[in-house]
Amino acid sequence: MRMPMNSPMWVAALGTPVVHHLTRAQLRAQIKALQAANDALVGPHHSLVGQWLVDIHDFASTWLPVFFVLILSVTAWLLWRMAGAMPRTKPQNMATQGSSSTTWADVAGVEEVRAELEEVVDFLRDPKRFEALGAKVPKGLLLYGPPGTGKTLLAKAVAHESGANFYSASAASFVEMFAGLGAARIRKLFAEARKNAPAIVFIDELDAVGAQRTGHGFNREQDQTLNQLLVELDGFDGAKQVVVMGASNRLQDLDQALLRPGRFDRQLLVPPPDLAGREAILRVHTRGKPLAADASLVTVARQTAGLTGAELANICNEAAIAAGRRGDSVVVQEDFDGALERVVAGLQQKKVLTEKERMILAYHEGGHALMAHLMGGASELQKVTIVARGTALGYTFHLPEEDRYLHTKEELQDWMVVALAGRAAEEVVFGRVTNGAANDLEKVTDIARHMVFDWGMSDAVSSRTMRADNYALSEATKRVRDDEQSRLTDGAYEEALRLLSKHRASLDRVAAALLEKETLGKDEVLELFADVQPESRASETVGIPRVVASVAGDLWF
Ligand SMILES: Nc1ncnc2c1ncn2[C@@H]1O[C@H](COP(=O)(O)OP(=O)(O)OP(=O)(O)O)[C@@H](O)[C@H]1O
Ligand SMILES: [Mg+2]
Repeated sequence: MRMPMNSPMWVAALGTPVVHHLTRAQLRAQIKALQAANDALVGPHHSLVGQWLVDIHDFASTWLPVFFVLILSVTAWLLWRMAGAMPRTKPQNMATQGSSSTTWADVAGVEEVRAELEEVVDFLRDPKRFEALGAKVPKGLLLYGPPGTGKTLLAKAVAHESGANFYSASAASFVEMFAGLGAARIRKLFAEARKNAPAIVFIDELDAVGAQRTGHGFNREQDQTLNQLLVELDGFDGAKQVVVMGASNRLQDLDQALLRPGRFDRQLLVPPPDLAGREAILRVHTRGKPLAADASLVTVARQTAGLTGAELANICNEAAIAAGRRGDSVVVQEDFDGALERVVAGLQQKKVLTEKERMILAYHEGGHALMAHLMGGASELQKVTIVARGTALGYTFHLPEEDRYLHTKEELQDWMVVALAGRAAEEVVFGRVTNGAANDLEKVTDIARHMVFDWGMSDAVSSRTMRADNYALSEATKRVRDDEQSRLTDGAYEEALRLLSKHRASLDRVAAALLEKETLGKDEVLELFADVQPESRASETVGIPRVVASVAGDLWF
């Protein structure tokens, strides 16, 4: 049934059945009457509150949707910002064959590794030659070794020489706060490489993701990333020609699954260079630096046993800077000597010492120098000084006579005696010791620990290791281990005290010379000790077979 708009029935249809028989005017009159009654009953104040409520309600119903939309948009904007703030590292595609890239000529002293990598370069350049023989491209190469030996440099050289697409990423960029993100990045990196094969994927500082999986929940992201890497290493077939290269300082920390055959199965040690290697590296880094006639790279190489390529590069640069500062046009040998000291011992310090301190220092360093001489060629003394450098107030600078990888127990004991001679000299001369021997003590502790823990060089246990991470060691064995360490170090200290007391006159002589000149070179020291005969010949007798009297026919093989 249709009804006129104003009729009471229409009001009823909207859901107010109580007033359906009232007209609008009647309704208004009734509300007024009710309000008046209300005012009379509770007072106008309460009706004012009622009015406020009505006002607030009106305001809210008008503006609430607007606020709502506003808050929603602000939230959306914040989310957008957050997404934008997340690091979006893309795998870096290094230019191949670019003019600025590193070439084989820039890498020296790591010939074995280079030969191995050249094989991969050959394979990528001319895969057909190898495929005809049924050979597959080597899949994973892992370069490992101490920092600064040229691992990243080698990878860059491979990138340049191979002509393949080269993708380089640091493993640290895969580690994220959000689980799964690192894994996604690895997937993307490998997908890209596979699309653009032949390609090389280089993952630097692999330990950031390759550390052994713990199985605990808190390393979830890292475990997932590593799992994804394992999958990707398996995932492509040989025909795709994607070679994966990794670099790491710590092979022992990497997960075993990464190292198994089929993944990073070619592990190449990049060691600190030997004598010839150091000379070659010095040549690379003095290219374009004019050298004076007296500058001998062979000498510098001889003086830098144990230093890495990065440190040698630094020495060359420091030497050139020193020459430039002097206003010279060529680099002289003295610049190299200064640079070497600076790199090895730190910057020269202008510390003001009291006379008493200088005296103690002179005896301390003199003790080291005398003992190095008494230990006969364990290491050749280059210089002894009481001029402060780096954090040391003074130092003696020894260099090994030859590059050697094997050292006898006796030699190591001699080293400990030399290291403790500074403190022993203080004790012998002044009757009390100072805090100046911290570094020496550290060195001695380190040697003794290696001898007992790793090299079976203690008298009590000589046929096995007693490493700190071996939890199967009994308490009794641990006690033996500690006792043996103290026996070695205490023995070395006793020996140092004995020898310095015996050669007290020479000790006084070198201390007086140091107080006067502050720095003594190799020749000056040798002259001072001309009449002192070495007490130990441990290093001179290395590799000389022992002559044992034997009865003919009684030899065992
Ligand atoms: N064998 C080398 N031949 C020439 N230069 C070298 C050699 N090794 C290191 N260098 C110099 O040292 C610098 C640093 O080397 P690089 O970055 O390759 O070290 P790394 O082994 O990757 O160290 P890390 O393990 O700390 O990453 C090189 O840029 C280069 O100048
Ligand atoms: Mg590196």
